Amino acid sequence: MPEALAPPSPASLRACMSRFATGVTVVTYDGGDGPRGATMNSFTSVSADPPLALISVARRARCHDHLLDRPFCVNVLGAEQEALARQFAGVQGAAEPRWTLGARVPRLLNPLAWVECEPWQLYDGGDHTLVLGRVTDLGHRDGDALTYAWSRFGSAAEAADGIEHLI
Ligand SMILES: Cc1cc2nc3c(=O)[nH]c(=O)nc-3n(C[C@H](O)[C@H](O)[C@H](O)COP(=O)(O)O)c2cc1C
Repeated sequence: MPEALAPPSPASLRACMSRFATGVTVVTYDGGDGPRGATMNSFTSVSADPPLALISVARRARCHDHLLDRPFCVNVLGAEQEALARQFAGVQGAAEPRWTLGARVPRLLNPLAWVECEPWQLYDGGDHTLVLGRVTDLGHRDGDALTYAWSRFGSAAEAADGIEHLI
């Protein structure tokens, strides 16, 4: 048996992971007493058939228990929507969210893209729960994307041509 390696320090883990650039989303849901949301960058497209997408939800987050058993909407933010990312990461007063009602769940008004899901499968993710959602509705608009890398917000310009044919 190979010797067990020491786990990486939280600081080195953070330094490594922060070099992986992502988009930024706000995952919205019906909190029972009104619409709620939480900023998340762990969003990943998983499968086309059936259409599946993944989010990783911290067990300590207020949204955690709500996202295990009800529809939710992943709102992909545009470059000009950084204040919403801060608001839903706990910075009260950063932005005044405007809401609309999707097919089954409240979502933000005018995100760059939105993906409505219902929980399909849950997995243990340590101090997170991995929620694999089945996509039930979606939409998008034109515009630049809000990004997160090096623990900073940034933007990625809308591209005219992609490399979809390589994937
Ligand atoms: C850029 C960014 C990305 C984040 N990604 C996640 C994530 O993927 N999953 C998660 O559980 N929390 C993530 N967070 C932290 C939550 O947004 C934060 O804990 C929030 O306060 C949770 O709200 P709630 O406790 O009201 O549910 C992220 C925060 C930021 C700023």
